Amino acid sequence: MTSERVDWKESIPFICPTCRASLEKSAAGLSCARCSAVFPEREGVIDLLPARERPARAQRAMEAGLVVSLYESRLWRRNPIVGSAFGLSFEMEQEEILSGLELEGSERVLDLACGSGIYTRPLARQLPRGGAIGLDLSLPMLRHAARRASQEKLRNVEFVHGSAMELPFPASAFDAAVCCGALHIFPDADRALQGLHEVLRPRGRLILAVFRQGPGAYSRFLARARRRLYGVDSFSAEDLGRRLSAAGFERVRVLHARRIWLIISAVRYSGQ
Ligand SMILES: C[S@@+](CC[C@H](N)C(=O)[O-])C[C@H]1O[C@@H](n2cnc3c(N)ncnc32)[C@H](O)[C@@H]1O
Repeated sequence: MTSERVDWKESIPFICPTCRASLEKSAAGLSCARCSAVFPEREGVIDLLPARERPARAQRAMEAGLVVSLYESRLWRRNPIVGSAFGLSFEMEQEEILSGLELEGSERVLDLACGSGIYTRPLARQLPRGGAIGLDLSLPMLRHAARRASQEKLRNVEFVHGSAMELPFPASAFDAAVCCGALHIFPDADRALQGLHEVLRPRGRLILAVFRQGPGAYSRFLARARRRLYGVDSFSAEDLGRRLSAAGFERVRVLHARRIWLIISAVRYSGQ
């Protein structure tokens, strides 16, 4: 590992999920000088969420070994049938999102709900002088992500066990962020958008990929049923645009809105 890469990791600002004070690197992982909490780093994952409640139904799948190992394969995220339902293949989606971020190469980018790191790793490759931080609720997904990043010899990635509902980073910690395939399963999408607004620097860009709610009464009926049965939401471009504006984002742009998939970009308001 080059010292430049080590410095990059050392420079990531974390805050304590309990008392919100800054965390310091220690031999055990990260520790809080104010409340003395210690957060271990194991198998390449910093655990900022050591204890949590039983996950909701849609989330339980994201913790199952079989789903984790197949997630990036043609049986799941890269499945051509899924691609057809989304109105674009995974490769097209990835191209849309990575180019939409307009990165220069030295940014610090948050991949919120990174799962297996399917976006974190390509992001890291685009950031030779910066790096990508993947945060997720599922430890099995994160361990898998850390293993793959290490196999691919990526030094500028860090994986963090945490929740989108309480991001463990200070204000303006990131130059850009993505949150793909996840806003619709968060318990409170607006709270997640407010958190993203908080941790992005002014004019920092955010890209979201979510389930799209189509027009018409039948689509609304299906959306309500999906929410009730599985806890999975969906958004129209107008609805998500309104939520983004309410959270303090501007320049909302729809990058893709076909079939059941919506990709949208926005920029954090440049004032306060
Ligand atoms: C369908 S996967 C998306 C993974 C990846 N971003 C992608 O585009 O394929 C959804 C991810 O959201 C994570 N997740 C669900 N609720 C979360 C929360 N409250 N905070 C952080 N991650 C969460 C799950 O663990 C899962 O890895």
